[in-house]
Parts: sequence; C-alpha cells; structure tokens
Amino acid sequence: MRTIKMGIVGLGRLGKRHAENIAFRVPNAELLAVCSIKQDEVDEAQKNWGIKYAYTNYKEMLENEELDAIFIASSSTEHCKQIELALEAGYHVFSEKPLGITKEEVDYITNIIEKHNDKKFMLGFMRRFDPSYLYAKKKLDDGDIGKPMYIRCYSIDPVSAVEGAIAFAEKSGGLYLDMMIHDLDLARWFLNSEAKTVFAVGDNYLYPEFGEHDDIDNGAAMIQFENGAVASFFAGRTSVHGYHIETEIIGTKGTLRIGTIPEKNLVTVFNENGAVRECHEGFLERFENAYLNELQEFVNCVLEDRKTPVGAFDGLKATEIGYACKQSLITNQLVML
Ligand SMILES: NC(=O)c1ccc[n+]([C@@H]2O[C@H](COP(=O)([O-])OP(=O)(O)OC[C@H]3O[C@@H](n4cnc5c(N)ncnc54)[C@H](O)[C@@H]3O)[C@@H](O)[C@H]2O)c1
Repeated sequence: MRTIKMGIVGLGRLGKRHAENIAFRVPNAELLAVCSIKQDEVDEAQKNWGIKYAYTNYKEMLENEELDAIFIASSSTEHCKQIELALEAGYHVFSEKPLGITKEEVDYITNIIEKHNDKKFMLGFMRRFDPSYLYAKKKLDDGDIGKPMYIRCYSIDPVSAVEGAIAFAEKSGGLYLDMMIHDLDLARWFLNSEAKTVFAVGDNYLYPEFGEHDDIDNGAAMIQFENGAVASFFAGRTSVHGYHIETEIIGTKGTLRIGTIPEKNLVTVFNENGAVRECHEGFLERFENAYLNELQEFVNCVLEDRKTPVGAFDGLKATEIGYACKQSLITNQLVML
C-alpha cells in the first residue's frame, strides 16, 4: 500500500488535530515531520507521537526529500508564502483557509498555484466534507427542494473562546475573512453561483478590543448571487450557549436546515433549567468528521492523481466576497462584485 508522507507546519489549536489525523486516523497517510516556531509544540509532538523529524524552521523541513506533501496549519499571515515555498520545492500542498490575508496576497498565490498545476493543492473549506452538509448538497442537486431562492448562514463562536479570538485577531484577517468565509464558500457551493452585490454591517457590541485590529465582534452581510438567489449571513464571537453553526436553504419546493439547534448529541438533560439539549463547544467537536474527511480526500487525490474538489479558485472567490463585505462595512455602501 502506497502512503503519502506528510510534513505539517503549525501545531496550534487546529494544527495539532490535523497532525493527529495524519498520524493516526487516515489510511495511506504518514506524518513524517512536524514544524512550528514553538519549540515546546515540536518537542511534545515528536515525543508523544514518535514523529521522525521535527523542525522549528519551515525552510529546513522543505529540504527533507522523504516528504511527498506539506500540510499548512500555521497562522493565516504565513499561508501565502508557505504555500509558494512548498510548491516551488515540489510538494503537493494542503492549506488551511484563508489563502492569504490581503487581496494582493490572494491574487498572487492563486497565480502561483495555477502555475504549479502538476502538484495537488487543496484548501481547508472543511464544511464541504461534513456529512450533514454533504447530505443537504445532494438533496439540493437532486432537485428535492426545487430551485434555491434564499440561504441563511449563522456562524457564532462561543464567548468562552473570545480571549483566544482577541489574541488571534491581529493575524486572522478579520471576522469576514476568518469566520464568515466558511459560509461564503458554502453559499457559492450550494447555489452553484457567484456573488454579485454585497452589503455588510456590524460592530463591536461587547469587545472593543477587536477594534484595535480593525475588526468587529459580530457582523452580518446580505448578498445577491448572479443566479438571483439571496443570502444572509451572521458571524460572531459571543454565543453564550456554545458553537452555533446553522444553515437554511429555502427552495421553490421545500426547505433544508442544517444544525437548527447546534446539538452536541442525542441526549436531553432534564434538570432545574428544564429539558436541556447541550450544544457543541467548538469547531474541533462540531467538524471532527469533516477535518478527517477532507484530509482523506486530499490523500486520495494525490494517490489517484485526481483534481482536488476545493482549490485556489474557491479560496479566491470566497476571499473576494469577504473583502467586499469588509469594504461595505467600512463605507456603509453596497459593493458590486
Ligand atoms: N477550518 C477551520 O475550521 C479552522 C478553524 C480554526 C482555525 N483555522 C485556520 O487554521 C490556521 C491555524 O489556526 P490555529 O487556531 O490553530 O492557530 P494557532 O495560533 O493556535 O496556531 C498557529 C501555529 O502556527 C505556528 N506558526 C506560526 N507561524 C509559523 C511559522 N512562520 N513557521 C512555523 N510555524 C508557525 C505556531 O507556532 C502555531 O503552532 C489559521 O489560518 C486559521 O484561520 C481553520
């Protein structure tokens, strides 16, 4: 059985989970190298998981000729240059979203990725690999709800994670590019269409600290797509009940809803608060299967020499909408794409 030997850069909140998935949960994948600028993260991964190579310098990892592919899960500010370096060193690349945090970066790296089309490149829009979203997409494509007219997406991080989000704000690209981007991508995917006009509003309702990085703690956007469908989005950092991810698609013959109540599982707790359905606590829990499935798909694409289902173009398009949202927020004007 051929295996894809991978090196991962970034061992933080999400990188650590990806690293574990590569090391232990995906057949045909092998975690041969880990890299982080934090020595303690690298030491811990190497010791706990028995990883052969460990680096605190990314360029040194790229010199390891035993590797087939690089998985990028570092801070968003690093993605663009790390993708370029990995492709130029001859590796297949999986990168966490976003492609970059400025429009120039995203345009630039999209061209570089297209230039290296002999290598596989996949972007981490993992919601497309979540079993419920896949199920809904099939129903939509099969025409079960007719023609989609409206899509509504909520993505609200738990307030319990807000300190981390504030610390991350400087390098995140802001609420629209960091958080809402997943829903912007989902809307393109579900509607098979591109955004046409964008209007966005939002503010720092609870945490002015986000304002120090030109960011907001909660924001919304309304978008019309080229096929006439309308979409409304809400993203935030202050959900008190848990990690709230919800999507609704209204069609001419029916409606699909995913995650109406972001329930943790099938258990109802009856207590002094009534009949309680507990909620997911964060992205690692809610999208556990999606992270695994997207990695498996990337490995399969490399092994079978197939085109990856989520590429640079998707990153570029979602980023363009995210920028339009940011621009609309600042100018309070409708933005035409
Ligand atoms: N798809 C999703 O659901 C999802 C969820 C969370 C985060 N993300 C994305 O994943 C990425 C990582 O997020 P996180 O929350 O794990 O961040 P984090 O800050 O917890 O971790 C960042 C990691 O990158 C390492 N790093 C930073 N610069 C580096 C460099 N130059 N060389 C080597 N290592 C470097 C850090 O040492 C750390 O290990 C971000 O781009 C974020 O947007 C995606």
